[in-house]
Amino acid sequence: MRIITVRGSGSASTLETSHADRPRPGVGEVLIAVTAAGLNRADLMQRQGLYPPPPGASEILGMEVSGTVAELGDGVDGFSEGDEVCALLAGGGYAEYAATPAGQVVRAPRGVDLVEAAGLPEVAATVYSNLIMGAALQPDELVLLHGGASGIGTHAIQLARTLGARVAVTAGSRRKLDFCADLGAETLIDYHDDFVDAVVDLGGADVILDIMGAKYLQRNISALADSGRLVIIGMQGGASAELNIGALLAKRGSVLATNLRGRPVDGPTGKSAIMSGVLDHTWPLVESGRIRPIIDRTYPLDKAGEAHRHLEDSAAIGKVLLTL
Ligand SMILES: NC(=O)c1ccc[n+]([C@@H]2O[C@H](COP(=O)([O-])OP(=O)(O)OC[C@H]3O[C@@H](n4cnc5c(N)ncnc54)[C@H](OP(=O)(O)O)[C@@H]3O)[C@@H](O)[C@H]2O)c1
Repeated sequence: MRIITVRGSGSASTLETSHADRPRPGVGEVLIAVTAAGLNRADLMQRQGLYPPPPGASEILGMEVSGTVAELGDGVDGFSEGDEVCALLAGGGYAEYAATPAGQVVRAPRGVDLVEAAGLPEVAATVYSNLIMGAALQPDELVLLHGGASGIGTHAIQLARTLGARVAVTAGSRRKLDFCADLGAETLIDYHDDFVDAVVDLGGADVILDIMGAKYLQRNISALADSGRLVIIGMQGGASAELNIGALLAKRGSVLATNLRGRPVDGPTGKSAIMSGVLDHTWPLVESGRIRPIIDRTYPLDKAGEAHRHLEDSAAIGKVLLTL
């Protein structure tokens, strides 16, 4: 089967097509014939050698796919060969076939093109697990989403609006802010300006979904409302910063930091539980059209390098996909 490999580690041009044996599904796994694979910012870091896959995971890039069930491992029920599905992977998505635990596979949402469905698993699982399971976002609460035009941000705006929350976003250009407004964001902040005053003027954010990490830690705490929850899911602005506990304590605030890829498959906060929550909560919203996949561009698998460059240049709004 065709796969994408990284020659050395470094620029997007080090991605090239090569060949490998088709994987066999292990016990409890589903083998998927891949229709499309979603790109994630973490793929760019893995390509540069900065984000190794978890132990035991495929070395091939790619954390989400859509496709059809090609083969079932022992002990799997609930799926049949030919079913249209999408799935979270610990790795291995940039390939014609990918195997993953059955709990991380869900049927593709009805009415969504199977290519576009590849852009849903990571954003749906990340946003559901953080805004609903982690932060328990409530109707009428204010949520601040950093990087509102990202893959994560465009999904989070839509999910937060279905919950009846008020949405503020940051983004780097007028074009991106306008797109966020069309999705339902009400407060639009160019991140080249300061976001703290704009959010404090609204009473502070009850929930902040942060992708910048260290660079925004202090400002995020300043922007939190009383009993606010800061959920950090990215470190684009560094991993290490000083935390003013006094400022957090005065607000009775909390800081949560999570990652999806490293979670166990099973258990109450494992990936299977999250995908089951996505299936029950988010899929009906997608199937009714209240949440739609936001796909910026698709590239054929062989053009993975160009696709990485497009994401790296911050040119995209929403998701970039590779098609097979
Ligand atoms: N922990 C987890 O489980 C998990 C899972 C998935 C994703 N993530 C993280 O979530 C983030 C988004 O992922 P993605 O794949 O959706 O990435 P993406 O589409 O590449 O988006 C990256 C975003 O970063 C924004 N950004 C850059 N500088 C910023 C700044 N100073 N202030 C605010 N925003 C800024 C960009 O905004 P502009 O385009 O407007 O410049 C862009 O929207 C990444 O950091 C990723 O690692 C974490």
